[in-house]
Amino acid sequence: MRITAATRVYGIIGDPVAHSLSPVMQNAAFAAAGLDCVYVTFHVPGNRLREAVEGMRALGVQGFNVTVPHKVAVLPLLDEVSPEAAAIGAVNTVKLQEGRLLGYNTDGRGFLRSLDADLGFRPEGRDIVVLGAGGAARAAVHSLCGCSPRRVVVANRTPSRAADLVAALRPLFPGVPLESCALSGGPFGDALSGANLLVNTTSASLSCGGPVADLTLLPPGCAVYDMVYGETPLVRQARERDLRAADGLGMLVGQGEIAFSIWTGLEPPAGLMMQALRPASCD
Ligand code: ATR
Repeated sequence: MRITAATRVYGIIGDPVAHSLSPVMQNAAFAAAGLDCVYVTFHVPGNRLREAVEGMRALGVQGFNVTVPHKVAVLPLLDEVSPEAAAIGAVNTVKLQEGRLLGYNTDGRGFLRSLDADLGFRPEGRDIVVLGAGGAARAAVHSLCGCSPRRVVVANRTPSRAADLVAALRPLFPGVPLESCALSGGPFGDALSGANLLVNTTSASLSCGGPVADLTLLPPGCAVYDMVYGETPLVRQARERDLRAADGLGMLVGQGEIAFSIWTGLEPPAGLMMQALRPASCD
């Protein structure tokens, strides 16, 4: 690709951000679409976020993704936030339009896309257990509740955070039984034994090395989704038990595809971003 005076700039802000796989997939999609655009990483520490966001506007950066730790803090710095991003309380995609910064959240829809593409799972009428109560859980629960599941149980190490998440989302989805519990004990065991899908949104496997939940409680046929990528302990143990399991790479791709569409009005060719990531994610 040739960078010219006309090349439009896109990027991602985060801290850390050097490990991001987004440049690989977004640049592949720009090239495939024949667009004169480039996507780069911007390392932005928390105390420079405001300046960085204003800088994006001043420089005419056409769009950018927002990752840890800025997804929540960026909200008040934007001119407009989509209802979905406002409900989730986090923005991961920003578009510059006529000098205004518009915020979106594509994580939840990316997750649903990956559930369908990677596990063939549709949430409608199903019993779902979500582990964790942070921003990732909130995006997952919000997107799942929009698909008329039979029941969603949010289980968290700190039960009060799960209760807060449920209390915040319940009014938006009055028809969906939405409950919370601790990560152990009777209600958690009951939820697991009736689950059609278990979703891990916690980073527990990164810190303690083991899966967050006792998979022996899951019924046969239950699907398992881990938002962390790679062959995590949860994914490995689920597969050992012959349960369908997927890691978070598909969600990363899904949220990226939707961000690309928001910026360009085009759908990236199916499978292209995943194909671009495969060699990078094996590094
Ligand atoms: P994110 O926005 O990425 O979801 P977060 O807000 O820091 O990140 O939330 C991390 C989640 O992982 C929380 O639900 C956290 O549980 P607590 O609310 O009890 O802190 C969960 N988590 C992190 N490490 C964990 C561990 N070792 N065991 C169980 N849960 C863990």
